[in-house]
Amino acid sequence: MPTLSDLAVRHTALNEADIEWMHSLVSDWQLLADLSFADLILWIPLRDASGWIAIAQMRPTTGPTVYHDDIVGVTVSKGERPLIDTAWDERRICREGDPDWSSGVPVREETIPVRRADHFLGVIQRSTNLSSARTPSRLELTYLQSASDLAQMVAEGRFPFSGAEPILVRSPRVGDGLLRLDRAGRVTYASPNALSAYRRLGLNADLVGAELGRTTAALCYSDEPINENLMIVASGREPRETEVESGGTVVQLRAIPLVVGGGRIGALVLIRDVTELRRRERELMTKDATIREIHHRVKNNLQTVAALLRLQARRLRVPEGREALEEAVRRVGSIAIVHETLSHTPEEQVDFDDIADRVIAMTGEVAAPEAKVTPRRVGTFGVLPSEVATPLAMVLTELLQNAVQHGFANRPGRLQVIVSRGDERLRVVVSDDGRGLPEGFDPESTTSLGLQIVRTLVVGELAGRLAIDPRPGGGTEVTLDIPLPAA
Ligand SMILES: Nc1ncnc2c1ncn2[C@@H]1O[C@H](COP(=O)(O)OP(=O)(O)OP(=O)(O)O)[C@@H](O)[C@H]1O
Ligand SMILES: [Mg+2]
Repeated sequence: MPTLSDLAVRHTALNEADIEWMHSLVSDWQLLADLSFADLILWIPLRDASGWIAIAQMRPTTGPTVYHDDIVGVTVSKGERPLIDTAWDERRICREGDPDWSSGVPVREETIPVRRADHFLGVIQRSTNLSSARTPSRLELTYLQSASDLAQMVAEGRFPFSGAEPILVRSPRVGDGLLRLDRAGRVTYASPNALSAYRRLGLNADLVGAELGRTTAALCYSDEPINENLMIVASGREPRETEVESGGTVVQLRAIPLVVGGGRIGALVLIRDVTELRRRERELMTKDATIREIHHRVKNNLQTVAALLRLQARRLRVPEGREALEEAVRRVGSIAIVHETLSHTPEEQVDFDDIADRVIAMTGEVAAPEAKVTPRRVGTFGVLPSEVATPLAMVLTELLQNAVQHGFANRPGRLQVIVSRGDERLRVVVSDDGRGLPEGFDPESTTSLGLQIVRTLVVGELAGRLAIDPRPGGGTEVTLDIPLPAA
């Protein structure tokens, strides 16, 4: 399915700023569809002006749709839909007298020219399915009046709001709760949901006739200095959002100033009770914080273990025993690095480049000073889940250690960790140009601890493949090929 931008670029003469305007219109026109109880279709003139192409469509959540099929991508010729042509030619909102029955249900059609700054970009077709229309209630009348104000704003280039901050979370919809304010910020209509939200905030009096800013501030900020942003939103002066809390209830407010015919005539304020949503977010946040704290403590404990082993190593007179303990210190240390990194991130995901670089630096330190081995990383690991990161850090430690200890045996050389990451697999090559594997060496049958650890982790834990080969040109090359869990 082509996107709005695809269609606009391919078939119309809209420039980049026009398309941006269309995006922001479409990101906010649910409001117009809901208040109108109507389907919306956005028609843009074809580049050769021979007709129209539909680049976006919206169904109402407040009423039945007219179009069960997708209209986006459909083209019509000039003359085929006179109402669209007229709105465009005469730069005005057009409304047909009689309902159209061609689709089997009575449909009222209306067209609204879309304006940006001083030029027109297209036409919105608004189609209302009248089959379920009843005698309108106060709610419906308020909605329809507000829809007609918004349509006027679209035709005058005042909606969508240019330069308004993009709305990141889902902002309230018409069905969540709606207030209409007059110019002075007094409530002239409150939908039942909006009223309930204010009841939960603690309101006992009537909302209609009240000044929304003052009323809300009295409920939510009784002892505090008044929140400036709230006053702006609740007076309906600027297109903004805010959140207020009282008595354990959290309510989101979004103001849509109505500016018609050059003057501000009032505002709509959409209202949504987000108490449950915020409670769940808070729960998740404490859970994240707990997990981070646990990683932090595990890291501390591992460092204590490493320190104890180091102490013991120093007391040993037998060099072999001392070396073995020092190696254990390094193994524990590389696990601690992973936990430390995890204790800084909110997710169970780590930037493994960081970890690899620290493990690599640790190896460089271990190598005898005269050896002058500076290991380096080529390519990037990217972000890895912790269940891959921990074993991989240990594997890297062992392989780098071997290269320094056996490959170079205190001679200078080149040591590289070469990474290539695909969508589903990670390939890592640890390559040294040292003296190579011993004569007749069979990596499969070695009983020494280091390679056993490596094999267990790579094949067992990571379900990957391991190959240890002589490097062309001398030295040793160990290749890991590890499947990555689906994101
Ligand atoms: N990069 C390398 N270059 C040359 N020989 C290597 C290399 N890596 C491993 N080897 C050989 O493989 C053997 C097994 O390695 P392994 O890591 O399993 O044990 P180790 O390093 O001897 O002891 P440890 O258990 O302390 O790691 C080594 O003793 C060494 O002979
Ligand atoms: Mg080893």
